[in-house]
Amino acid sequence: MSAPRELLLDLQKVSAGYGALKVLHDVSLHVGKAEVVGLLGANGAGKSTLVRTISGHLRVRSGTIRHGGVDLTRLAPHRIPQHGVAVVLEARNLFGDMTVAENLGLALRNGRQRVPRFSIKDVLNLFPVLTEKYGTPAKLLSGGQQQMVAIARALLLQPDVLVLDEPSTGLAPKIIKDIVEVLQQLRSEGMSMLLIEQNVSMAAQLTDRAYVLSLGRIVYEVAEGTWKNTLESGALADAYLGGGMKSVEPRPPVKESRQ
Ligand SMILES: Nc1ncnc2c1ncn2[C@@H]1O[C@H](COP(=O)(O)OP(=O)(O)OP(=O)(O)O)[C@@H](O)[C@H]1O
Ligand SMILES: [Mg+2]
Repeated sequence: MSAPRELLLDLQKVSAGYGALKVLHDVSLHVGKAEVVGLLGANGAGKSTLVRTISGHLRVRSGTIRHGGVDLTRLAPHRIPQHGVAVVLEARNLFGDMTVAENLGLALRNGRQRVPRFSIKDVLNLFPVLTEKYGTPAKLLSGGQQQMVAIARALLLQPDVLVLDEPSTGLAPKIIKDIVEVLQQLRSEGMSMLLIEQNVSMAAQLTDRAYVLSLGRIVYEVAEGTWKNTLESGALADAYLGGGMKSVEPRPPVKESRQ
């Protein structure tokens, strides 16, 4: 048997929600060093809510979020990357009036003070199209290019763990292919990731193991080395559908945040 991986991101019984709506119920999950972990779930399952609790934008009501042994549970959003966790939110949150160069430069300056693993040159090599757009305001980029800037910016924060909320959603197949290739490259270089994804075949291709979230609870786990069996057995489809698909109304921006 291989040695257990060093534990990086560790969520224990995390609960969170919006006002009277409790969305996450005692969610426990972890990401080890050089591990790519998937989080699957239908629309409305609570995936982005979980991501916002990790990023510090949504208050954790109970439970703990730790990374590398440090308690992040009550930290404000700008403090989370300083501890090695970079999050690409569903909304990407770029500074629209700032150029690609300025968006990336800001991340580089706000990253952790240590020998950078990723330079601007590295991220432009990962996403060559951004070289041509380097002086363009982010708001004038296509959705796919904005997603690339968001991922590049997260890498420039020099994270130990990268958390990505559905990076391929709404993008053209060619762009999805480019982004998948970058994620595969990062994986092969040992980057630890928590990848939120609804596309099961993409998750199977990109992750070592995965959790399924349904109505705010972890209802199923795909253990390392069991993706093939899981897909063949149909167990995942049962876990997915068992929680009930739910349609989601357009919603207002998150109001609740940590101070
Ligand atoms: N800002 C908000 N205020 C109130 N309720 C919200 C808010 N954001 C999300 N919700 C509710 O929380 C629940 C989970 O939403 P969330 O966005 O976390 O789901 P998701 O799994 O990311 O879905 P999707 O796949 O559509 O992105 C839903 O019932 C949603 O309506
Ligand atoms: Mg979401």
